[in-house]
Formats: sequence, C-alpha cells, structure tokens
Amino acid sequence: MRRWLVKAGTMVLGVSLRAKIIGLVVGLLLLLAGAAMFQAERSISPFLNQQLDTEAISTAKYIADRGPDYIYRGDLFQLYTLVRDIKNSNQNIRYIFLVDPLQNVLVDTFGNALPAGLLGVNRVNPSESDHIEVLSTEEGLIRDVAIPISGGKVGTVRIGMSEKGLVQAKAKMLSGLAVTTFAVLFVGIILAFILSRILATPYRRLIAATRVVSTGDLSYRVPAWPIKDEGSELTQAFNHMIHKMEQSAQEIEDLCTLRRGLTEKVMQVQEEERRHLARELHDETSQSLASLRLGLKYAEEAQNLEEIKMRLPEVRHVLDDAFDGIRRLVTELRPYVLDDGELGQAITHYAQEFQSRYSMEVDLTLDDVGFELTREVASSLYRIVQEVLTNVARHARATQVSIILNQHSGDISLTIEDDGVGFDVPQVLAERVGQRKYGLFGIQERVMVLGGSSQIESSPGQGTTIYVKIPGEAFKHGQNHGVISR
Ligand SMILES: Nc1ncnc2c1ncn2[C@@H]1O[C@H](COP(=O)(O)OP(=O)(O)OP(=O)(O)O)[C@@H](O)[C@H]1O
Ligand SMILES: [Mg+2]
Repeated sequence: MRRWLVKAGTMVLGVSLRAKIIGLVVGLLLLLAGAAMFQAERSISPFLNQQLDTEAISTAKYIADRGPDYIYRGDLFQLYTLVRDIKNSNQNIRYIFLVDPLQNVLVDTFGNALPAGLLGVNRVNPSESDHIEVLSTEEGLIRDVAIPISGGKVGTVRIGMSEKGLVQAKAKMLSGLAVTTFAVLFVGIILAFILSRILATPYRRLIAATRVVSTGDLSYRVPAWPIKDEGSELTQAFNHMIHKMEQSAQEIEDLCTLRRGLTEKVMQVQEEERRHLARELHDETSQSLASLRLGLKYAEEAQNLEEIKMRLPEVRHVLDDAFDGIRRLVTELRPYVLDDGELGQAITHYAQEFQSRYSMEVDLTLDDVGFELTREVASSLYRIVQEVLTNVARHARATQVSIILNQHSGDISLTIEDDGVGFDVPQVLAERVGQRKYGLFGIQERVMVLGGSSQIESSPGQGTTIYVKIPGEAFKHGQNHGVISR
C-alpha cells in the first residue's frame, strides 16, 4: 500500500514544473469554488426558508385580522376577493384557504376542490400563534402555515408557500458562482502558464549550460537572471562553480606545462653536463693520460736509469694535473661535502664562492641542525640555496644576502633574504608558464616532494625573502634514503 502510494506520488510529482504549477492553481481554484458553493448552499437555504415563513405568517395574520369582519357579515365573496388579490400579488404563495372551527372550507384559491388530504395535514392549536408543516408535493416542497382566527374561535387561515422560487434563486446564485469560478479559472490558468514559464526559465538555462559544460567548455556562463529570487541565486552559484572549475582546470594545465618544462630543462641540463664531462675528460684527462703514456714510452726507451729518473718528475706532474682535473670535475658534479654529511659546510663553501664571484656580502647563520639529514633532504636544501642565490645574482641587483638555516620544534627552516629590487610575486607566478621560468617552480616541487612548505615574500623595491620549511618526518624516518652521519 505504502509502496503504491509512493509510486503514485512520484508519478504525480514527476511531471514538468509548468504542469505542477497549473495543476496546483486549477486544483486550488476548484476546491475554493466547491467550498464556496457548499457553504452558500448550507447557509442560504435556512435563511430563505425563514424569510418565506415570516412572509407567510405576516400575510396570514393580515387575513386573520381582516377575515372576521367578512365572516360575521357573511360576505364570503369579499373575503374570497381579498385572498385572491393577496395570492396574485405574491408569486411564492401557492394557495390560501380559510376554514371554520369545524374544518369547513370558507374560501379557497384552488377554484375547484382542495387537493385530497390537504385539509388535515396541518392543524394549529388554540394555544399556538402559528404552525408550519413542510409538504412534499409533485410541485416540490410547500411550506404550509396555519394561523388561528380570533384564537381559533372563528376558524383558521392556511397559506401554502412554494419553495420553487427559492430553489430557482438558489440555482441562479450557484450557477452565477460557477460562471465566476470558470472565469477566474481561465484567468488563473493563463497566469499560472505565464508564471511557470518565468519560473522555469533559469532551470532551463541551467540545464542547457550543464550540457555545454559537460562537453568541456568551461567558458560558458548562464545569463544573469534579473529577478532576485532562488533562480538568480542558483544562476550565480552555478556560474561561480564553473568559474572555480575553470580556474582549477587552468591551474592544473599550468602545473602540467610547468612540470613538462621542468623535465625538459632537467634533461637538457643532464645532456649539457654529459657533454661538459665528455669535453673535460677529453680535453684534460685524455690529454694527461696521453702525456703520461708518452712519458712512460720515453722511460721504456731510456738507455739508462739516469734518463728514467729525469723523466719521472714530469710524469708525476702530469699525474697530479690529471688528479686535480678529476677532483674538480667530481666537485662540480656534486659537492663532496654533501656526501660527508655537512650541509652547512657545503652551503658555506658555495656562499664564499658566490661572494667572491659577485662581490656581494653573504651573511650566514647556520645552526647546528642536530639531525641526521638524509641525502635527499640535504641535497634538496643545497640545490634550493643554489637556485635562490643564482636568482639573486641574475635578477635582484642586491648588495647583501642573508641565509639562515635553523631548527624549530623538529622541523628545518631555511630563510634566504636579499635587499634587491624585489618583484611582483602573483604577476611573476602567473606569467612564468608562458615565459618558461622554472627556478621558483623547481624549488616548490623539491619542497613538495619532501612534504614541506615554501613561501615567497617580495614586492617591487622591497627585496625578496624565500622561506622553506621541511618537516622532521622527511628526514627522521629517512634511513633507507641513505643517512649522512655527522
Ligand atoms: N631575488 C630576486 N629578486 C628579484 N627578482 C627575482 C628574484 N628571484 C626571482 N625573481 C623574479 O622571478 C622570476 C622567476 O624566477 P625563476 O627562478 O622562476 O625564473 P628565472 O630565474 O627567470 O629562470 P630559470 O630559473 O628558469 O632559469 C625571475 O624572472 C625574476 O623576475
Ligand atoms: Mg631562476
């Protein structure tokens, strides 16, 4: 039963918004008209009956007052004339007749005889002022009123009031009400149609917009809805949502472009490093080995020990040069201090070189971080310092740089500040995709990989500060990444 009700309810409510509104208006108007008709019928009938009774009683009393004169004089013709005139002057009066105390008819308006049984259906006691009986006849209901003449001593006046007129009046009133109802219903349907069209417009637009958006076009916007109602709120909320989606899609696309660019750059740098390594090996190490082979060949061909001894310092010199060359190459590839676990030392070394190369003062505050840093963390922090200092050299036109490395509640913080020209951070970050600038993005990526956070604070003319924070978890559980013991 419940399931059936739910199913029926779902079916009824499953129609379009327009059908719902029109259905509601029609239903309510019909209900209202039905209730009005019912109420009118209920309240007007007793009122009209009472009116009819009052009219009958006052007419009968009038006849009862005038009647005795004619009766005592025996002038029944005049009495007849009186009742006939009274009947003819009132459409509601169906009949009038007078009877004497012995129930003999004195006068009547029937012309022929009284209908059978009519005489006995209504009697008034001498103690009553009147008595009313409702008679059901072929002509409809008749209200029969009996009034005693001179307390019943002279006889009784009987008047029959037909309800026909009353029924006609009621029918006229109800049909008028029905016509009005249909007129209002017609206007109501037109208004409901217009209203439903207006109300459904934002929903129709949203449905159309959803279809467009689902094809991937996030630039589409629903036209603003001028009426300040839920429709305009919904339109605004939808447009805001699409705007956010568009922004996110753009951010994701930018991120992908940046990552692609960064990967390309890393591969280029790798390629360049390999070429540089090959050139260095060829130009320096191969040359040194060739000289060494030549020196050994001379020694081999030497005639005596003296000659061999003479050649040896030259060979050793060549060997020393080769060692220096290889060590330089290795240091360039990866600062040896990093492998020895001293991040602070590696930064100091790099900062000193930077200071002498760019004649810029570098302040170092490198706390003993007190942790065993993983190679990954140490090398990331070192590369971040490198990138930031390279940026300072290339863009900042600074006179002073400060590097602070310290430890706060288990996390490592790196802060690098310069007093240079600064830059508009949001603008630079927004433009870097198109301009293929990957340094700051690379820093953010390195920090993100370690689960840390970074922040750039700068504005034109105000210098630049880069904050990096690496959580303790990144290096405390990092034994399997190769811990650098200090
Ligand atoms: N310390 C700084 N002072 C002033 N401007 C800076 C500083 N650091 C970065 N910028 C500005 O931010 C931009 C972006 O820096 P980012 O390191 O991402 O790219 P880049 O250095 O231009 O190129 P790349 O690092 O890819 O070789 C720079 O072009 C520069 O305009
Ligand atoms: Mg850079």
